[in-house]
Amino acid sequence: MIEEGVDKSKRQFLTTALSVVGAVGAGYMAVPFLSQMQPSAKAMAAGAPVEVDLSKMETGQLIRIAWRGKPVWVLNRTPEVLATLVTLDSKLADPQSAESSQPESSKNSMRSIKPEIFVAVGLCTHLGCSPTFRPEVAPNDLGPDWKGGFFCPCHGSWFDLAGRVFRGVPAPSNLEVPPYRYVNDNLIIIGEDNEGSKA
Ligand code: FES
Repeated sequence: MIEEGVDKSKRQFLTTALSVVGAVGAGYMAVPFLSQMQPSAKAMAAGAPVEVDLSKMETGQLIRIAWRGKPVWVLNRTPEVLATLVTLDSKLADPQSAESSQPESSKNSMRSIKPEIFVAVGLCTHLGCSPTFRPEVAPNDLGPDWKGGFFCPCHGSWFDLAGRVFRGVPAPSNLEVPPYRYVNDNLIIIGEDNEGSKA
């Protein structure tokens, strides 16, 4: 289990385990450690799409997988988070994601196909560190303006829980949203677009 930014607030965000199915067609069953979630080296080299089973995700939970050698996050956002996201525009560098990288299907206010499920590449757009999941509101170390988000410890960039970067931080753009599609309500494939084409 990977836990990061364990939430001690009432939001009860969880970063506990959930099953992730590995490379498409490979029958790969992952356990919730990043290193063990990776498809085979051969599949990674081929850039194989990765299936993620959403059926056991709890509200507020973040899981991490690897796709093309990159960390990819899947976050099940709470209704409270969705309500907060629409209040942050004035503090963000690119609230409409006009300059950021995401598929057309995620070019919207929540940066996702379905509002509650957020998918992003977990690499800071400054120099590539992996930001920390900090879902709690106003923790002591980040202060009262922190509404929950991803914090990059390398140089202090702030991102909200839609991966949108705040103004005045080193990171120049929002976190990347990779191509993904829904097979059904409980299964997404990362690395394929809406038409099922490998991206
Ligand atoms: S790498 Fe994230 S702020 Fe510099």
